[in-house]
Order: sequence, then C-alpha cells, then structure tokens
Amino acid sequence: MAKIPTSRVDKLLSSMGYGSRVEIARMAKRGGITLDATDLLDVSKRIPVTPDLPARMEIDREALDPLAGMVILLNKPLGMTCSHKEDGALVYDVLPERWKRRNPAVSTIGRLDKQTSGLLLLTDDGGLLHRVISPKRHIKKTYRAKLARPLDGTEGDLFASGQLMLEGEGKPLAPAELEVVSETEALLTVTEGRYHQVRRMFAAAGNHVEKLHRERVGGLALPDGMVPGQWKLLSEDQTALIFR
Ligand code: URA
Repeated sequence: MAKIPTSRVDKLLSSMGYGSRVEIARMAKRGGITLDATDLLDVSKRIPVTPDLPARMEIDREALDPLAGMVILLNKPLGMTCSHKEDGALVYDVLPERWKRRNPAVSTIGRLDKQTSGLLLLTDDGGLLHRVISPKRHIKKTYRAKLARPLDGTEGDLFASGQLMLEGEGKPLAPAELEVVSETEALLTVTEGRYHQVRRMFAAAGNHVEKLHRERVGGLALPDGMVPGQWKLLSEDQTALIFR
C-alpha cells in the first residue's frame, strides 16, 4: 500500500502561497486555521496530506486550496501573456493571487500568443506538463482562424503534405488537418507547437490570420458558455481526455 505523505502544517500552507511560516503561525494563533472544525494552533504539527484535506481544513473560514497536482483549464482572454515575468497582463493574474507563490509553481502547458484566445491548460505537475507538450505524443490542438483573405482551396493539401517548411526552420511541419468553415474561416488541427505556428502556416499560404482561438487540446474541448477569463479545475477523468 502506498505510504500517505505527511507535512508540517506551516510548510504545507507556505508552499500553497498562504504566507511565510511566521505569518502562518500568526494566522493559527488568531484562530484562522481549522482542521475538522477544530482550531489548529500548533503549525509545527505534521498532518497526513490526503486528497480530502481541502474538504477538512479551512483557512480564514474558506476551504483550503487544491493540493499540488492541479490541472486548470482557462479560456484565455486576448491581450494576456503566457509568462511569469513579462510586463503587462499575465494569464496568472486571473487565478487567486496567492497561487503565484505556490511551490511547485503553476505554469502554462505550452503557450498561446498574447493575441490568441481560447483553451489554455495550466498545471503544477511537471510530469504532466512534459507529457502534454512532448512531440512524441502528437497531441492534437485545434484552432479556429479568421483570415484576412478568402482561402484559395490549395491550403488543405499544403498543410496535409508534411512538406511545408516554415521560414527559418530546417524541418518540415508534420501533416496538419484543415477544415474549411467559410471563405475566410477555418479550423486547423496541428500536432506540434512551433512558435506562432498557425499564423506562420497561413502566412506561408499567402494569407494572414486576423483572429485565432484554440478550441481543443486532444479530446478536451473548451466548455460551451465559458467566458474569456473564466477557469476551472479539471478532474482526473477530464485531464485524461487530453490524451484521447
Ligand atoms: N499558433 C499560433 O500562431 N499562435 C498561437 O498562439 C498558437 C498556435
């Protein structure tokens, strides 16, 4: 049977961004931490870190945040950058402020450009992150592109050819699938994640992407009605859909 991990309360809460160990000791003293509805005063105490802990522990009368191993699905708004340190609006700004201090850190699984919206995944699970972005997995990503000029009918074959070479690169792109929606709109499914890939593919076909939105990653689709900036935690079953 797997051994249940334990942690000191101050170390656990500090790694979840609730404050320094000193701040957490102070929080406990004023009755801000409860476990099973009882004040927890000794933050040096070791407790089992079980999946039900967020349902049993409250911090300032609110359920404890999710433990490490989170997967977040965000409908990324336009104008936000997938970076921890650039100036301007960052995708991490939509999550609770203290999550910026979590260790392990929450990071985006791959990136979307500042001017791309749609399905963005974030996690603090490094193993999962690498499995999703690994080129060996060929995970499909579907984008809806609105184009400046009408499609000319040659793009589907070009993108599917496996021979399209993007400017400045030494290896052709893997075959990608184009589904034409209208004269100036298409769904493009790619299995790689090269820099500005979709925009550069349409540029190579003599067009220009005016709007780009990611709708799917693997078997996971952006839920209907999820507005830009909205996010949710994924269950294990929902996370597994990424690989389907
Ligand atoms: N391709 C792009 O050009 N931009 C993105 O954000 C994602 C894929």
